[in-house]
Amino acid sequence: MGNYEVGIDAISVYIPPYYLELKDLALANRTDPDHYLVGLGCRRMALAPPGEDPVTMAAEALETLFERYAVSKGEIGMLLVGTESSVDEAKPVASIVHGLLGLPSRCRTLDVKHACYGATGALRLACDYVEKTARGALVVATDIALYDIGSPGEPTQGAGAVAILVRKNPKILTFEPFVEAVYTRHVWDFFRPPHRQSAIVDGHFSVQCYLEALEASYLFFREATGRSFLDFQYLLFHIPFPKMAKKALARLHQVEARFSEVPCSLEEDFERRVEPALYANAEVGNIYCGSLYLSLCGLLERAQDSDASALLGLFSYGSGSCAEFFCGRLGPDPNAWLGQTGLLEALKDRKRVTYEDYVAWREAREGEIGGKRFRFKGLDKGRRLYTSPKRDESRS
Ligand code: HMG
Repeated sequence: MGNYEVGIDAISVYIPPYYLELKDLALANRTDPDHYLVGLGCRRMALAPPGEDPVTMAAEALETLFERYAVSKGEIGMLLVGTESSVDEAKPVASIVHGLLGLPSRCRTLDVKHACYGATGALRLACDYVEKTARGALVVATDIALYDIGSPGEPTQGAGAVAILVRKNPKILTFEPFVEAVYTRHVWDFFRPPHRQSAIVDGHFSVQCYLEALEASYLFFREATGRSFLDFQYLLFHIPFPKMAKKALARLHQVEARFSEVPCSLEEDFERRVEPALYANAEVGNIYCGSLYLSLCGLLERAQDSDASALLGLFSYGSGSCAEFFCGRLGPDPNAWLGQTGLLEALKDRKRVTYEDYVAWREAREGEIGGKRFRFKGLDKGRRLYTSPKRDESRS
């Protein structure tokens, strides 16, 4: 069993300062707003304007981290970026961000990709590195989630970045233990070929894949540690949309019931151990790699002093697929982790944009990177249509 004294010593978030109300999206898509608000549990989606991308968002999250916590750039020996929306096929986001931040040249930089699992894979590598050296490691999760306009995935979109400093004897969260409760299965539930900005997804199948991976990695975790999900004060999941957390908790109840009686109802358990962190995801949407860590920030902003030393269960899922179940203990001093992430300030200062602006920003973004591959087709009964030319349609 890998018993580490390493973990998260600082964490900060960047959310673009614009959002689309999902009520407005539902109106444009001629859907009952409750489909998005109640059925998926989403409320708003963070929107990155055309000038922002995963590089600028990662740099912003790191700037906030260096401003808010006592960290010297000189101590950083590794910068890993978890992303699935990189701006280049060869040069990593980590390298550009390293330059923007002026980090030491004696520093390893690379991106880690496995859909939404990328940042957790990076975190794992960073923990191993920190355990062996006297230096700190940075992990940044940064993504813009895009699905086709009018598609079922569209209301789950989001944008944002989370920056994490991994150190020995961390003040925020110690991974204890960090066992190999990982699960991989090659599936085509969600993917994005290089010529596309938006993901291709088999949505209902992806939900099944997520739950299967949760069950398998939880069982590995249970066997390796002797702990059950009942031991955690809070449970944090990868959140593609908030309702997914309830489906995940329901699956854990079913699995655990094979071993012991679960002493609380699903509803009561959800309200007490899962819901407290979800408001952040409902406000921002899916930020892919950062989604689990956005939930963690949500919890760190709203937790109580009495949550000091609480044990958290965490589940990370990346389509494709790779998943991991792990746990961490909050630091004993709440002053070190309460209200430090920048999340509440970021959510407070946002501006609402119209559906028309949202579409125009997409056009700018997709045209910008995809050249002439993606085109705005026109309006259909007041609704904008956005399609790919034949060459792309035949490939997807
Ligand atoms: P959908 O078309 O909204 O599905 O697509 P639905 O018709 O089944 O509706 C969803 C829920 O809304 C249902 O409730 C409906 O009953 C309810 P449920 O049965 O789930 O409890 N509903 C309503 N409720 C109240 N009032 C109404 C109403 N209408 C319907 N009027 C889907 C949903 C998730 C498939 C879609 O959003 C999608 O494709 N999303 C993208 C893929 C995704 O998020 N998958 C999740 C697992 S995979 C993952 O997490 C990895 C990922 O993050 C990528 C990565 O790893 O990089 C996505």
